[in-house]
Amino acid sequence: MAQDIKVANEKKWWKEAVVYQIYPRSFKDTDGDGVGDLKGIISKLDYIKSLGVDVVWLNPIYGSPNADNGYDISDYQAIMKEFGTMADFDALLKGMHERGLKLVMDLVVNHSSDEHKWFQESRKSRDNPYRDYYHWWPAEKGKPAFRPGAFEADGSGWRYDKTTDSYYLHYFNYKQPDLNWENPKLRQEIYTMMRWWLDKGIDGFRMDVIPFISKDPEFPVITQAELDKNYHGRWDVYMGSGPHLHEYLQEMNREVLSKYDCMSLAEGAGMLTSTALNFVDADRKELNMGYHFEGTNLGYVPGYFKKSGPYSLVDFKKIYSDWDKVYETKGWGTIYLGNHDQPRMATRWGNDAPEFHDYSSKLLTTFLLSMRGTPYYYNGDEIGMVNAKFDKIEDYRDIETLAQYQHLKNEGGDLKEFIEYQKTGGARDNGRTPFQWNATENAGFTTGTPWLKVNDNHLTLNAEAQEKDPKSVLNYFKKMVHLRKTNPVLVYGKYTLLDKENPAVYAYTRELDGKKVLVLLNFSTKNATANTGINLKKAKVLITNYANPFKNGILRPYEAVILELP
Ligand code: NOJ
Repeated sequence: MAQDIKVANEKKWWKEAVVYQIYPRSFKDTDGDGVGDLKGIISKLDYIKSLGVDVVWLNPIYGSPNADNGYDISDYQAIMKEFGTMADFDALLKGMHERGLKLVMDLVVNHSSDEHKWFQESRKSRDNPYRDYYHWWPAEKGKPAFRPGAFEADGSGWRYDKTTDSYYLHYFNYKQPDLNWENPKLRQEIYTMMRWWLDKGIDGFRMDVIPFISKDPEFPVITQAELDKNYHGRWDVYMGSGPHLHEYLQEMNREVLSKYDCMSLAEGAGMLTSTALNFVDADRKELNMGYHFEGTNLGYVPGYFKKSGPYSLVDFKKIYSDWDKVYETKGWGTIYLGNHDQPRMATRWGNDAPEFHDYSSKLLTTFLLSMRGTPYYYNGDEIGMVNAKFDKIEDYRDIETLAQYQHLKNEGGDLKEFIEYQKTGGARDNGRTPFQWNATENAGFTTGTPWLKVNDNHLTLNAEAQEKDPKSVLNYFKKMVHLRKTNPVLVYGKYTLLDKENPAVYAYTRELDGKKVLVLLNFSTKNATANTGINLKKAKVLITNYANPFKNGILRPYEAVILELP
């Protein structure tokens, strides 16, 4: 056992890193077209460095017609025109490396764009050399068995294509046809492309829905009973359990990843505590890390599209503790609350009412940066950006929200209610509004018309104001990053949940080499206490989000404190 823990704690730069995710479209625009660009990121490199983070993950910046904001790639070795040029990319990478920052790219290879030349060829004829780069189903065999298409109003993952009288598979939108990984030629093309980027000097990949790559080409009928029995009733679990998935990941590791000092992160769609190690147990030679959805799916009301109800902190604690356990002796975990697919963490997991906003944002930051596992921190959360809460469907841009809206409309559902729950719940645009740099028009993001409306609260909530305020959410984030970076116990230390049934307080210890810290997080709007059984008399406060030290074990609303225990 002791030996095993040593293996799990084997030091790696990507375990010690704090990853900062940038959504390039919304970060900083320098040419006035209302869309962020690479020069914009370059202009903010000193800001990024000042945060203390180590790694930047960029959402897709490749050639794309943008049906799904870059997750539909038409050229894997080009830069999206709106974002700039390859020369801009090279300057960005150089600028990052000069500052000691690493760069991780998004790898979107479950599907391409329908405008990729492979697909353009593939759809021409049944005997085209690229035919088998995608999944086709000849219409004379009848309609293929149902597979979900997440970004389609009718929910179907198959689209009929007249030219060859066949259907093709797309797990997302019809403009995102799924690549056929059963074809070794396709796999080699992908590996060559990955090596090309790594040879350029990038430091790793975040792999979009990578568990979905392997399919059974027979596309058998999947009954509800089978889904319930084998896949927890969930399509994502089914799709993430393809017959050759791990063979392909091992091949990718052999052919590409193992040759570089790079990091790899799976978007763990359909990943369960029972399957996670199949991806990240180092002995299997696949990937380094994955991020699961059990945490961020908590509190969604069944039967609705990402409508979030209140969530139980006891359930929240159980999920993160169960996932910590997965990696107790093997593999390595991740932790996140926000990203480009999620609502803003301050709104969804904290409390964006004025009296609680700053406290709860800081509390969530304390949580993310004091758990075991690599933290993935989403741009804008460091200043506590909140959901946009758009009132009109015309203000939404995201393909998923628009498809779900259309679906409901077709069914005669309640569209007003839909808009209401998008405000607090899932609509991805909430997390994608332009970064709030300052109080000027469009928050200093663009001089043009932003592709997505800027949140009005940028007049008071922006990076410039917070940089000047020592008590700001931003400065707390920097302090917390520094604390993690200077205390290995926060990275590698053993995690133990305390007082697990406490409905208001999340309490846990972290322990390493004789050092022990206690983290206390009051997730409620009332004073609360935690029954930890630990005498706090001699404890030393390492960080707190309140101005005055906490007394008598009473935590004020959204109070967060980390204590070093004697
Ligand atoms: C997951 C990505 O994070 C999301 O933004 C995208 O729409 C889908 N995969 C499809 O690529």
